[in-house]
Amino acid sequence: MSPPSPCALADRRILVTGASVDSDIGRGIASELARNGARLVLAGRRVEALEATKALLPAAEQHLVAPYDLTELDGIPAWVRQIAESGGPLGGIVHSASHQGYSPLSKIGAAEFDRYFSINVGAAILLARALRQRGVAAPGASIVYIGSVAGLRGQKGRTLYAASKAALVAVTRSVALELADLGIRANCVAPAIVKGAQAKKHFSMLSAEQNAALAAAHPLGIGMPGDVAHAVSFLLSDAARWITGTVLPVDGGFMAQ
Ligand SMILES: NC(=O)c1ccc[n+]([C@@H]2O[C@H](COP(=O)([O-])OP(=O)(O)OC[C@H]3O[C@@H](n4cnc5c(N)ncnc54)[C@H](OP(=O)(O)O)[C@@H]3O)[C@@H](O)[C@H]2O)c1
Repeated sequence: MSPPSPCALADRRILVTGASVDSDIGRGIASELARNGARLVLAGRRVEALEATKALLPAAEQHLVAPYDLTELDGIPAWVRQIAESGGPLGGIVHSASHQGYSPLSKIGAAEFDRYFSINVGAAILLARALRQRGVAAPGASIVYIGSVAGLRGQKGRTLYAASKAALVAVTRSVALELADLGIRANCVAPAIVKGAQAKKHFSMLSAEQNAALAAAHPLGIGMPGDVAHAVSFLLSDAARWITGTVLPVDGGFMAQ
């Protein structure tokens, strides 16, 4: 019998934030990781939206839901430690939960600032801190942050979202260095627009001409949640054991221009 593929995730226990059924990318990541053999802990605020994702997964009974509000930053390490103590150490964390939106300069105030940075950046850092606690990370564990091409390129009307996703790139690099001694990797996947509810919202705010220009900015067309999920699964797997601190655009060629 041939050895298992290093891309497999068999028996890895992986925490996926933002895994609600109505999050196209989070749900897509959960489906792909479960298909590759991982046992998942699905996180978000709404338990029913997590249960709905769980019901869609292969071997649904092997997966758990763990509702938590990730803006409660100080509680994150204890919450993650409890997940590890009750079900076994984690072979990975995917942080897909995010505050997305539009924030023209005229509307930006301190409350808005907090809304983006608390979950997009603060929770990302506290999840890394959580993973370094004794007994929480399994051998070969890694973190994958879901960023955005908005953090790599300017986007009109999205200053706060873009700033938070750019900060996530810096978080990825520093966390990768800080966790390397423990053998824990950290990487970031930066999608461009992916088909689903958020893309629909985005396109509905634009004129027909702007819509055409945005579609044309993706030489391979608009992506699917599975395109992001495949990259995440690879980065979590042993096939990526020598990859850390990187940002991988998954963008149909958006960043190549
Ligand atoms: N969609 C795109 O085209 C696109 C493009 C580039 C990058 N991205 C990035 O990809 C990721 C997923 O995007 P998406 O569009 O699929 O997601 P989405 O529909 O915006 O879903 C956001 C997820 O985050 C969870 N969440 C929000 N606030 C939370 C909090 N305080 N505590 C815990 N969970 C919270 C939500 O669940 P609850 O509401 O139940 O808490 C939900 O599961 C995000 O990081 C986004 O920035 C998306």
